Amino acid sequence: MAHQKVLLTGPTGFIGKRLLYQLDERGYQVRCLVRAGETLDLNLPLRQEPEIVYADLLDPDSLPTALDGMDTAYYLVHSMGGRSIRQTRAFVEKDRTVARNFREAADRAGLSRIIYLGGLGDAGDRLSHHLASRHEVARILQAGKVKTTVLRAAVIIGAGGASFEIIRYLVERLPVLLGPRWVYTKSQPIAVENVLAYLCGCLETPETAGRTFDIGGPQILSYADLMGMYARVRGLSRTIIGVPLVPIRLSAYWVHFITPVPVGVVLPLAEGLRNRAICRENSIRDLIPIHLTPMETAICNALAEETEGPGKLLSQQACFLPGDLA
Ligand SMILES: NC(=O)c1ccc[n+]([C@@H]2O[C@H](COP(=O)([O-])OP(=O)(O)OC[C@H]3O[C@@H](n4cnc5c(N)ncnc54)[C@H](OP(=O)(O)O)[C@@H]3O)[C@@H](O)[C@H]2O)c1
Repeated sequence: MAHQKVLLTGPTGFIGKRLLYQLDERGYQVRCLVRAGETLDLNLPLRQEPEIVYADLLDPDSLPTALDGMDTAYYLVHSMGGRSIRQTRAFVEKDRTVARNFREAADRAGLSRIIYLGGLGDAGDRLSHHLASRHEVARILQAGKVKTTVLRAAVIIGAGGASFEIIRYLVERLPVLLGPRWVYTKSQPIAVENVLAYLCGCLETPETAGRTFDIGGPQILSYADLMGMYARVRGLSRTIIGVPLVPIRLSAYWVHFITPVPVGVVLPLAEGLRNRAICRENSIRDLIPIHLTPMETAICNALAEETEGPGKLLSQQACFLPGDLA
């Protein structure tokens, strides 16, 4: 399997950078697709120097060279961002365009597989723009000739992940958290190490080709539960209250000022809080059996890895984990 040539999109991102280390550890030859002007900062040495190719998924002409000679591609890209509220809708159109560009280039290059990490959420549930867009990207990629595996995840708990950083900064900085009533919506968060195990597992499990899987951790929790759990793990006393009629745009700006996450990411994520994000099926667990990390441990692992911002831990001993999980 390790003879496969793997193209990694999004290697500068939260998931992509971690996946690069996992693939390298397993002996894969990895080509990283990086946008011109960006640098791939690696904090640990790799066994093999990755090949870097400069391309932009918005520019179809840059893709043939990037995909040439590759067997499998990981699609770990989204277009959310920006520091103004006006920019917060542009990502839907951009993500549609980049997915189409990528599918066409992948078809032409004759790739054997694409593995895409998207979002959970049920189509009948008035999906937020963000979740609807993640599902649309899955449909666009799966409509091509290349067999595309789609993994659908809710919040991923890991240092540097946008959702986790929002929770961390809010709970660390505010003794009383007033949020929209959507903080009581249930979801199934997952530890980043479990996501990486599934992403690598799909590459090594041919039966996953062309299929869609929901991936989730071992607990179903509301966002209020998750924030309360974070506070307990850190030994902090916090009150979390969901209030009806809190304007979501106002909340997004407020979160943007308290956390380092830009409003162009906060608003689409905050709108998604209204949608339940729970696995509808667990067939991945039979194909790729792994130990699912409890959320308390995932939070503790993430805190131990943080190097800046509030709440960083020097060692896991500083975590207040329930005895059986420590
Ligand atoms: N984080 C979570 O909690 C979570 C939860 C569920 C699902 N996911 C899914 O996981 C995937 C990866 O998310 P992430 O959290 O790792 O995101 P991220 O940290 O924001 O990284 C996004 C990556 O996409 C790249 N990118 C954006 N537009 C591009 C373009 N036009 N051409 C080339 N590269 C482009 C960025 O490159 P630059 O550095 O050049 O901007 C960056 O490397 C996404 O599909 C997301 O929906 C994430």
